[in-house]
Amino acid sequence: MSANLAGLSYFIRTFGCQMNENDSERIAGLLEAEGAVRAERAEASDIVIVNTCSVRAKAEEKLFSYLGRLSAPAEARGAVVGVVGCTAQVRRTAFWDKPRRLHFVLGPGHYELIPDIVRARRPGRVCVTSRHRQWREWPAGRTRLSDPWSAYVTIMEGCDNFCAYCVVPFARGREKYRPFALILDEIRSLAGRGVREIQLLGQNVNAYRDPGAEGRGLAELLDAVSAQEGVEWIRFLASHPRTFSAEVARAMARNRKVCRQLHLPVQSGSDTVLARMGRGYGRQGYLDKVRQLRDLMPDIQLSADIIVGYPGETDAEFAETLSLLEEVRFANIFSFRYSPRPFTAASRGPDDVPAQVKKARLTAVQALQKAIQAEQHRDFLGRTLTVLLRGRDKRDARGFAGRSEGNQVVNFRSRSEPAGPFVRVRVTGSGPYSLKGERVEPV
Ligand code: SAH
Ligand code: SF4
Ligand code: F3S
Repeated sequence: MSANLAGLSYFIRTFGCQMNENDSERIAGLLEAEGAVRAERAEASDIVIVNTCSVRAKAEEKLFSYLGRLSAPAEARGAVVGVVGCTAQVRRTAFWDKPRRLHFVLGPGHYELIPDIVRARRPGRVCVTSRHRQWREWPAGRTRLSDPWSAYVTIMEGCDNFCAYCVVPFARGREKYRPFALILDEIRSLAGRGVREIQLLGQNVNAYRDPGAEGRGLAELLDAVSAQEGVEWIRFLASHPRTFSAEVARAMARNRKVCRQLHLPVQSGSDTVLARMGRGYGRQGYLDKVRQLRDLMPDIQLSADIIVGYPGETDAEFAETLSLLEEVRFANIFSFRYSPRPFTAASRGPDDVPAQVKKARLTAVQALQKAIQAEQHRDFLGRTLTVLLRGRDKRDARGFAGRSEGNQVVNFRSRSEPAGPFVRVRVTGSGPYSLKGERVEPV
């Protein structure tokens, strides 16, 4: 039943999170297995797939403007165009409300249909957004590796938390866990292909449990992945502060391959805002988990997501977010202005923080965090770090770029071409968003 796509080129544009990036790599692997070749530009490809994100209004605006720009060149070339991902799931056939060149809309979980749809080149419309209740394994195939040494491995999909502001449970459905053995199979195969860093993915990985009888969870998974020869660095995300357990913290601490780095999205520093968000923890509960992690792993680098301008957020509540940033001193944060999303509980109430206030709060959060990072990065001066090579530094013809164990961007110079995957770099300079250094040449 092989759908032969030889001679066709494909292009995938990905919006959104690592989960979407991983899905796009899998779709690319499916298409390449059928003989399609990757194109550098949408305008020059026969198959154009847009993998979409719905998490904030801005993400969707960018998507619709991209689809608009895509239409004429796709029409001119006679390309097959598909929309997949979270907005596909949420908006379904609404993509056809406007006349546009679009052949298929697929929600997550239906991407194995893509080769056949493309081969058929049906002039009609295909829209599949039904939900699976359980994990559905991908057809065996080779996920494309955009980075030779680092790969994402999805361990669960969906989210049962239903935070009041968040569309993800509606886009990705309820939690579905991938069998332990299949996760390890994929990791073994990636390690065999030279991958050294594994990033375990899910919207809510603390909830992971093996759907098999044994009921193993994330802590056991970290142990098992650590035992895989070839794998040197392990990361996992996203963790929910409510369910992040002492057991997982201990599993991190006992497995030296698990990077001393954790994304633990706090969203707000205010108990009342956290309660309105339905997050299930308060400021002190969060700070206790941070202390526990730092007691076990003193050098751990923490990052978080922050939402400003949540409905009803007062100046005093917002000030608590700033003071939390000062107290925790994150290595990095991702900060967003609240925007109402379809189906969510918060969208049924008013979006009552004025746009100007949201903007000013976002600026304040980012300015404070920038100062914290600049100060923290200065402490790294003179230290030698292990860095996973990413490639050439785009802004420095003689330079290279990589990431440290703490997930900091490290730009460095090297006298000889580094072969990777790991290099040692002595830090000689720093800014708020990256470290600079010189490679310590092997002797
Ligand atoms: N499952 C992950 C990722 C959720 S989406 C987690 O819980 O961390 C990534 C981030 O987008 C969230 O952490 C949140 O900070 C932000 N976000 C989600 N919905 C939003 C909304 N309606 N408005 C603004 N930011 C939002
Ligand atoms: Fe969204 Fe909350 Fe689930 Fe994260 S934990 S995906 S913020 S509902
Ligand atoms: Fe966006 Fe879906 Fe990820 S809404 S953040 S692409 S799970």
